[in-house]
Amino acid sequence: MNATLPPGTAKITVPLLQQKKSEQQRITCLTAYDTLFARILDEAGIDLVLVGDSLGMTRLGYANTLPVTMEEMLIHLKAVRRGVQRALLVADMPYGSYHASLKTAVENALRFVKEGGAEAVKIEGGRKRGRLVERLTAAEIPVMGHIGLTPQSIHAMGGFKVQGRNREAAEMILEDALLLQEAGVFALVLEGIPREVAARITGELTVPTIGIGAGPECDGQILVIDDLLGLTIGPKPKFVRQYLDLNREIAEAVRAYIRDCLEGRFPDDNESYQLPKSLSSLVC
Ligand code: KIV
Repeated sequence: MNATLPPGTAKITVPLLQQKKSEQQRITCLTAYDTLFARILDEAGIDLVLVGDSLGMTRLGYANTLPVTMEEMLIHLKAVRRGVQRALLVADMPYGSYHASLKTAVENALRFVKEGGAEAVKIEGGRKRGRLVERLTAAEIPVMGHIGLTPQSIHAMGGFKVQGRNREAAEMILEDALLLQEAGVFALVLEGIPREVAARITGELTVPTIGIGAGPECDGQILVIDDLLGLTIGPKPKFVRQYLDLNREIAEAVRAYIRDCLEGRFPDDNESYQLPKSLSSLVC
């Protein structure tokens, strides 16, 4: 984290993201869960790295994000911290870490900053998070909001469903966005809402909107890295653009390795240490 950045590369900060919105520059964001991927994304020039609670599904094998704990998040956050220099590093507050009381919520967010090296936290929910956003920003912790389809509300929403599909629901989401901005969020993730609704919110807010399944008019975009690389197993949401099919490629590589091992083709001479010719006859 303290290593110097290559010349000409500015560290991405909260004010810089605000400036990007003012200058109508798009903001790029991805999730990461370990040092290896964090370094690759950072060096490729991503603006924001989110240690998402999606790690519960992508890395820990849970059916949804609800079981993810603070301790699990901290392990992955620390690993990502070791790989990120330039991008803004945001940590997702897991379900249960900010729901019981404002006090425990602030304490948990402080752990992300002090122990995990996060530069900001993300919380899901609309108007009901207003006071929490105020408390966190008062504690000097920048907060990213997240509204629309909020995966931690899966039971309340009755599944992963696109939100804001009628006038009343769309107005509610817009009001939530304005209220969270008023409370102090520095950016707002808009997930799973019609592009027209996201476009209206983006036009009305002064803070950047980051879309995932919310159309191209948002100020920035975010995807789960596994979806982009084709590592996710099973059906993908409509909004995912898959740039690679790593799942297939990794499985092919592993099958080839198994074949080579079983058929005695691995390792070959070049992949083995050998004694000098003068000694080999003494040993073998
Ligand atoms: O947990 C996560 O990865 C997220 C993003 C997809 C926005 O919340």
